[in-house]
Amino acid sequence: MKTWKDIQGWFDFAEVYDLCLDNAKDGGVMVEVGTWMGKSAAYMCEQKRLKNRNVEFVCVDKFGGTQDDEGMNRTVENLGGEFFHQFEKNMKDCGFVYPDDYEVIIADSKTASLSFDDGTLDMVMIDAMHDYASVYADAITWKRKVKVGGYMCFHDFERDSVSKAVAEAGINAKMYLPRTGVWKRTA
Ligand SMILES: C[S@@+](CC[C@H](N)C(=O)[O-])C[C@H]1O[C@@H](n2cnc3c(N)ncnc32)[C@H](O)[C@@H]1O
Repeated sequence: MKTWKDIQGWFDFAEVYDLCLDNAKDGGVMVEVGTWMGKSAAYMCEQKRLKNRNVEFVCVDKFGGTQDDEGMNRTVENLGGEFFHQFEKNMKDCGFVYPDDYEVIIADSKTASLSFDDGTLDMVMIDAMHDYASVYADAITWKRKVKVGGYMCFHDFERDSVSKAVAEAGINAKMYLPRTGVWKRTA
């Protein structure tokens, strides 16, 4: 059986997912915007199972289209323009299946956000495009979806484009090492 460690990706925020999962209430909903091949998603599914947590985990990704860098674009091209099937296979190889372990929304971030009422999410992890305009749009779009007591997190927070966009969206996130900004909604 494979594990999340065998999946290609950039996941280095296990401690942040632990924090958010431990903070979420049973019956809660956690959303990851930017799933790629499923590395971070498989980690969350593993932890949900190990901790026997009844929390819905939703993966949001376009699973195709233009990516953050040329290497990613080449990978998508080699897979025929979409990578949902590779993601699904990776998850299955790790023992996780839809919809028991995770939910999926195949859509752009803004469209996917329409699936959730304001103030309902225990976690939103933003790990999609990392340019200023994209992060700002994601921050504004998803901020209102987070419930009081829930977390909003931003990967690659060490990049100016990310931390500046988050601050200018009115979110007072703090760096949670090594590379993720974390904000807890308190009111
Ligand atoms: C850096 S990767 C995510 C890495 C992943 N979390 C991991 O553990 O390796 C970014 C992902 O965000 C997706 N993405 C980028 N912009 C998006 C958007 N506007 N809406 C939905 N998904 C988007 C890309 O398709 C890509 O799969």
